[in-house]
Amino acid sequence: ATGGSLSIIVLGASGDLAKKKTFPALFNLYQQGFLNPDEVHIFGYARSNLSDQELRDKIRGYLVHVKNASEKAEALSSKFLQLIKYVSGPYDSEDGFKRLDKAISEQEISKKSSEGSSRRLFYLALPPSVYPPVCKMIKTCCTNKSDVGGWTRIVVEKPFGKDLESAEQLSSQIGGLFDESQIYRIDHYLGKELVQNMLVLRFANRLFLPLWNRDNIANVQIVFREDFGIEGRGGYFDEYGIIRDIIQNHLLQVLCLVAMEKPISLKPEHIRDEKVKVLQSVIPIKDEEVVLGQYEGYRDDPTVPNDSNTPTFATTILRIDNERWEGVPFILKAGKAMSSKKADIRIQFKDVPGDIFKCQKQGRNEFVIRLQPSEAMYMKLTVKQPGLEMQTVQSELDLSYKQRYQDVSIPEAYERLILDTIKGDQQHFVRRDELKAAWEIFTPLLHRIEKGEVKSIPYKAGSRGPTEADQLLEKAGYLQTHGYMWIPPTL
Ligand code: BG6
Repeated sequence: ATGGSLSIIVLGASGDLAKKKTFPALFNLYQQGFLNPDEVHIFGYARSNLSDQELRDKIRGYLVHVKNASEKAEALSSKFLQLIKYVSGPYDSEDGFKRLDKAISEQEISKKSSEGSSRRLFYLALPPSVYPPVCKMIKTCCTNKSDVGGWTRIVVEKPFGKDLESAEQLSSQIGGLFDESQIYRIDHYLGKELVQNMLVLRFANRLFLPLWNRDNIANVQIVFREDFGIEGRGGYFDEYGIIRDIIQNHLLQVLCLVAMEKPISLKPEHIRDEKVKVLQSVIPIKDEEVVLGQYEGYRDDPTVPNDSNTPTFATTILRIDNERWEGVPFILKAGKAMSSKKADIRIQFKDVPGDIFKCQKQGRNEFVIRLQPSEAMYMKLTVKQPGLEMQTVQSELDLSYKQRYQDVSIPEAYERLILDTIKGDQQHFVRRDELKAAWEIFTPLLHRIEKGEVKSIPYKAGSRGPTEADQLLEKAGYLQTHGYMWIPPTL
């Protein structure tokens, strides 16, 4: 890209998010030629007193995976690390941010292509409690120099508040300093390949158009499972729980893309307008359509109180009260310490009316989108069992990405999203009204959980979660296919 100097400033540079996600994503972009060393400079900012070299050494191990590190990758990572400078200072005083501004300005002047403009991207890899003071400092001390043009953008991560009220307060504080067009709220699920594919799948295929509604679809499930617990994150997790950690953001964003109407165009604002409408059509969640769980052993974590009711598992049914979806349950399910690690969207179709094969069938048609691992889409169909007998069997039409796109490596979510922030494309970021609508859906339930009015049921770590959740699925009309398992194809 051309456009003058580009400074990427990672605040909270020595924290976990920065080391594990932000810097590796920047490195991948650099490797692929998206960060031109003639234009780009990267700054780390944090409180600890480090030298440039000390920060680089902290990051190095996360950039190249030791197992398959080629010499070339090693050399490239060293070159990349040279682009990083460190500035230390507090998050709430002008002194540190003035030094940061000075460092950025010096860089802007020294870059060959800087005559054009000054582009400044601030990535807040920080706890949300410091967003307001940090944004204030950036606004006061570090915005781009308007006489040469360019822009200033802010990237923030969830949790954006804890409920409707705190989220709105945070939004107002940041919104008082920066325009919505400068604020990029990351939900990294929007950067996943198969999540981005939803729009194409739904609106570029004639096949789906007439089927995608309450006349044909019985229920929709959006499921996230992880096969590990909250290892080391108890302090954060116990305050938030699985609904705030996964469902209210990641799964709800996916729901929007599954359920929204066709946008007027592909413009980011048109797409986000449609997402907001879906969220606003969701009716209040009923307690009897919620099952919460907490895995046994969760409270052994020293940072978790002994009487914690925080759910590490939840199944909740959302109902979208509009012409397309009335009566179709959208089942959102997420759990930690489960039997497997995967995320998928499962669309189950209604029964065939007057079905002459009914007594032989294994199950209904389902369209499954496997978000991870092993990205795939498969459609479960009933076919004739090959052979002499006239028997039916459940089979599938399968598009497995590894097999179909053998030479393509699927980019990391963060890589894509950071590139979007540089390009100024907000399509895959959460808009303020979207965030508000998302909190409106879950806040009453979250408050009831906090008051102990909805209890978490214990479940065994490494299991499917509480059996009550399976019963809820059945009650919602989901029919499990018996004796069928999709096996990802091997190459
Ligand atoms: C994060 C959650 O947003 O997403 C984590 O805070 C979770 O608890 C993670 O593990 C899952 O992301 P992914 O991309 O591995 O599915």
